[in-house]
Amino acid sequence: DFRFPHTFILLGASGDLAKKKIYPTIWYLYRDNLLPENTKFVGYARTKQTISEVREKSKKYMKVRAGEERKFEQFWEANEYLAGSYDKRIDYEMLNQQISKFEKGPVANRIFYLAVPPTVFEDVTVNIRNACIAIKGYTRVIIEKPFGRDDVSSEKLSNHLIGLFKEEQIYRIDHYLGKEMVQNLLTTRFANQIFNPSWNRENIASILISFKEPFGTEGRGGYFDDFGMIRDVMQNHLLQILSLVAMEKPVTLNPNDIRDEKVKVLRHIQPIAMEDILVGQYVGNPDGQGEDALGYLDDPTVPKDSITPTYALAGLWINNARWQGVPFILRSGKALNERKAEVRIQFKDVPGDIFDGKAKRNELVIRVQPGEALYLKMMGKSPGMKFDLVETELDLTYSTRYRETDVPDAYERLILDVFTGTQMHFVRNDELKEAWRIFTPILKQLEEQRVKPVPYVHGSRGPPEADAMLAKYNFKYSGSYKWQKPSPP
Ligand code: BG6
Repeated sequence: DFRFPHTFILLGASGDLAKKKIYPTIWYLYRDNLLPENTKFVGYARTKQTISEVREKSKKYMKVRAGEERKFEQFWEANEYLAGSYDKRIDYEMLNQQISKFEKGPVANRIFYLAVPPTVFEDVTVNIRNACIAIKGYTRVIIEKPFGRDDVSSEKLSNHLIGLFKEEQIYRIDHYLGKEMVQNLLTTRFANQIFNPSWNRENIASILISFKEPFGTEGRGGYFDDFGMIRDVMQNHLLQILSLVAMEKPVTLNPNDIRDEKVKVLRHIQPIAMEDILVGQYVGNPDGQGEDALGYLDDPTVPKDSITPTYALAGLWINNARWQGVPFILRSGKALNERKAEVRIQFKDVPGDIFDGKAKRNELVIRVQPGEALYLKMMGKSPGMKFDLVETELDLTYSTRYRETDVPDAYERLILDVFTGTQMHFVRNDELKEAWRIFTPILKQLEEQRVKPVPYVHGSRGPPEADAMLAKYNFKYSGSYKWQKPSPP
């Protein structure tokens, strides 16, 4: 109930994620009056500092438009900061007192956001449980990846959490689930009869789920080297998209019904085999300028002999009646030629060809970013006198179709969901377990056999070997079609 006092406690308030992402996000939610009116924010971390110092550090990441200055002041007035250790109960008792001060009336709720390093995660959760649980309302905890490094460490973490909180209290963030086009997958699939009969192995040749980023590790090498591209993006963000693309229709839109279907489809996936993976690592571009000239191993925080992949392409197989034999290709890479995340559903060639092999495959493209769009590549007659084939599309580009609508940021949506208690776009424990089951064996093999990633040039399309892999998975790329951004009238 939004009438009661709420406290949002940000642990790790002095860190990078807090200043770059969480403070700006809670400010936007506050600015847009989306949060309960009586919400207070408490930052907590080891660093001794004042709330004005916190404000100063996050300033450049927070947009304040003209006319919002007063509101911005009010936002900071609703903020407090408290320094304390992560491992001493006494400090959390102080935190508890601080929170209690705001909690007038019979009901008061608490949300803890854990933006803390994995090394202190267990201490922090135990101490919250022991000293900071709400007695007059709900306690919810938001946690961020990494949820472990493999099946064993992830299971250990889950068991730890199960001992402290109920599943309904735990909000595991995968911020891709907060993205507009990822959320739209469910609607596209299940509110359109046109896709319903063709969404299967009879009609679909292959599916590519792809994430590309135009920059390298940029100083995050220390964290990244321990995790690598497969854990950083593929095992979580891309697999989540896969489960929404591939799952059966849920019984209802209830969050647990949806997550039941996601788990079910994951259970049909075999662990990835060595022949189904290609790993790459970027090297400096000899002709490049600045960052482009640098390879992954030039990052001073990365060991010189690191075999951590910064690129990976994997083929996954879903052994159920709908998908058997259809390759699901997950591709993710850093330091590539562009920023793009999309899903490409490639349909089979038209049987019984009468067009001399000129008809190209239909492809449904769901562009997650940048510039949300959904378009269906199709063949048409070239307009005019001639009777030629032309590649064309049915195009739904959000920026032109929904000009008035601002697409909210993933974090804004997800944090608001925690306030309203909606777990639909959060990862359930059993989903996580399945994700690690699929990925742990191949991660182990790559590391134990010290498989050397193939090099690719910083700023390129990725390792040239990837094209052959796509062809092997029956994903056709002809290069003849280029999507054109529709220009506003
Ligand atoms: C994060 C990864 O989860 O997602 C980063 O740790 C990656 O390495 C980021 O850059 C991508 O998120 P977005 O929203 O910018 O696509």
